[in-house]
Amino acid sequence: MRQATFSSADDASQYLADYIIRKINSFRPTASKPFVLGLPTGSSPEGIYSRLVEAFRQGKVTFRHVVTFNMDEYIGLAPSNEQSYHYFMYDKLFNHIDIPKENINILNGLTNDVEQECKNYEAKIKKYGRIHLFLGGLGPEGHLAFNEAGSTRDCITREVTLVESTIKANCRFFNNDLSKVPKTALSVGISTILDNSDEIALIVLGENKRFALEKTIHGKKSNPDFPSSYLQEHPNVLIVCDNAAAGLKSKL
Ligand code: GLP
Repeated sequence: MRQATFSSADDASQYLADYIIRKINSFRPTASKPFVLGLPTGSSPEGIYSRLVEAFRQGKVTFRHVVTFNMDEYIGLAPSNEQSYHYFMYDKLFNHIDIPKENINILNGLTNDVEQECKNYEAKIKKYGRIHLFLGGLGPEGHLAFNEAGSTRDCITREVTLVESTIKANCRFFNNDLSKVPKTALSVGISTILDNSDEIALIVLGENKRFALEKTIHGKKSNPDFPSSYLQEHPNVLIVCDNAAAGLKSKL
């Protein structure tokens, strides 16, 4: 695992946005050879997305030949619901860049055939061959996408039940009303991330991620109780964090 630590969340986000742009540009994607990018939601990647939009506006990158796969989606929320990950992704990124709609893949939380939806998602990832870069965030309890404690190494895209700590952590997006947070979601699995990605990059910001970051890097390897520890098995992981998450003091 490589770790890059920055004195602020802004610097960390800028670094990772520039990193993604360099990866896309050096790949020289075309229609028949698209760059495949995995994407997370949550507050941590927001700074990256705004910088990608800015870079696109400045002509530094195009997403015409980029294909995206989002990590997860709540069950029961329509794309028009502001708390859905569909809405988030269009609002923060897709509406502002030149990615073709057909290149965007997000699990459908309104499907009436969950099993088929998840199978199709896995099959589509396989069809592209590899995810060149999977960007991720980190839950305070070590969840990756919506892979909660107990997730096994071989799990793939499926319906998951959210644990109380995740519901609590995410209720800030639902007017702090626990009852409004969906209790189930669709999520790519640990195997989906680890076995299909050439590289995984995590953005980890803020003091409340300190414990999770420490366990991810130095904790017991592949500990189902702490799903992000499975990342230790992957040969190409970049962790980009701020001083607060790394447990370092920032200079005044
Ligand atoms: C949600 C998402 C995760 C994300 C996590 C952390 O639970 N499903 O993919 O990594 O939140 O979010 P935040 O960056 O807001 O702390």
